[in-house]
Amino acid sequence: GAAPLDASKLKITRTKTPSQPKPNDELVFGKTMTDHMLTIEWDRTNGWAVPEIKPYSTLNLDPACCVFHYGFELFEGLKAYRTPDDKITMFRPDMNMKRMNKSAARICLPTFDSQELIALIGKLIQQDKHLVPKGTGYSLYIRPTMIGTTDSLGVSVPDKALLFVIASPVGPYYKTGFKAVRLEATDYATRAWPGGVGDKKLGANYAPCILPQLQAAGRGYQQNLWLFGPEKNITEVGTMNVFFAFQDKKTGKKELVTAPLDGTILEGVTRDSILELAREKLDPSEWEINERYYSINEVAERAAKGELLEAFGSGTAAVVSPIKAIGWQGNDIDVPLLPGEQSGPLTKQLASWIAAIQYGKEQHGNWSQV
Ligand code: COI
Repeated sequence: GAAPLDASKLKITRTKTPSQPKPNDELVFGKTMTDHMLTIEWDRTNGWAVPEIKPYSTLNLDPACCVFHYGFELFEGLKAYRTPDDKITMFRPDMNMKRMNKSAARICLPTFDSQELIALIGKLIQQDKHLVPKGTGYSLYIRPTMIGTTDSLGVSVPDKALLFVIASPVGPYYKTGFKAVRLEATDYATRAWPGGVGDKKLGANYAPCILPQLQAAGRGYQQNLWLFGPEKNITEVGTMNVFFAFQDKKTGKKELVTAPLDGTILEGVTRDSILELAREKLDPSEWEINERYYSINEVAERAAKGELLEAFGSGTAAVVSPIKAIGWQGNDIDVPLLPGEQSGPLTKQLASWIAAIQYGKEQHGNWSQV
């Protein structure tokens, strides 16, 4: 029968030309790759082949492969961190594996045992462990990817696939740490819709979002704040989930809010971590934490009343990305920041809680896996 993914069969071929780590200040997100890659072929008859770690190289694919024509592609993003005692830990890899399997199932690519792929990614990191950067803000960004490799133009279920994992030493998204961004609330282009695939990490969700980003950039905004539907609900920002904080003027009660996982929202690992830390650490007599629908109109009205406290994006790449203004219907909604700083106090607090766990200064359940 078809073989399951089996990490114990791993075959390793090491590079003859290992590279030296680049100085931290030369790391540009996703530009430098480590020396090795992991590849695993799959076909419907035989299942998962022997996993291989080998020197990083180009792929050799038939131009008729279904990935090039019909978008059979999905990916993940997770990070490995170097701790003060020089261990290397992956942050919540089980969450990424679960989501990767959901993405694969949705586009008829093969699923696999999460623990086996986590073990294999661990082996890949081990080969290049000298390339995992040191220092807060620095990490190894890991990019598991799966493509359909059936070499036929017929539109059908792939009978061959390739799972590969590459890795890139990365620094903070912005060298100076936090840098608050300006968003354009976008209602003329839609990132995801009910019954669609916005909750899956498919490459096909990303390419169509670049043109609206360029258009926003032409008007002076770095990213799109993606709205959905006649209600103009807030869904995501750029390639990240998004959170808003409000304070009710009458009751004094504060609220941290993000959109619910209704199938149009990427099931972000950082999103989930922020919700969990907020529910665990924020004083419930002061804060309510809600996953609910909320619209740009609510944000505009509450900003006008002085009830908008903070806003930030959350994702694996930038972790927490503060927002300072939102362009909507020709005006900017300003988001308050701490005097002389790039975020509000809650954004700063959440970012520091999550960093402490990621860099191994604090433990949180099984979030960090050596
Ligand atoms: C993230 O980690 O925020 C992303 O999804 C960005 C990635 C596509 C580079």
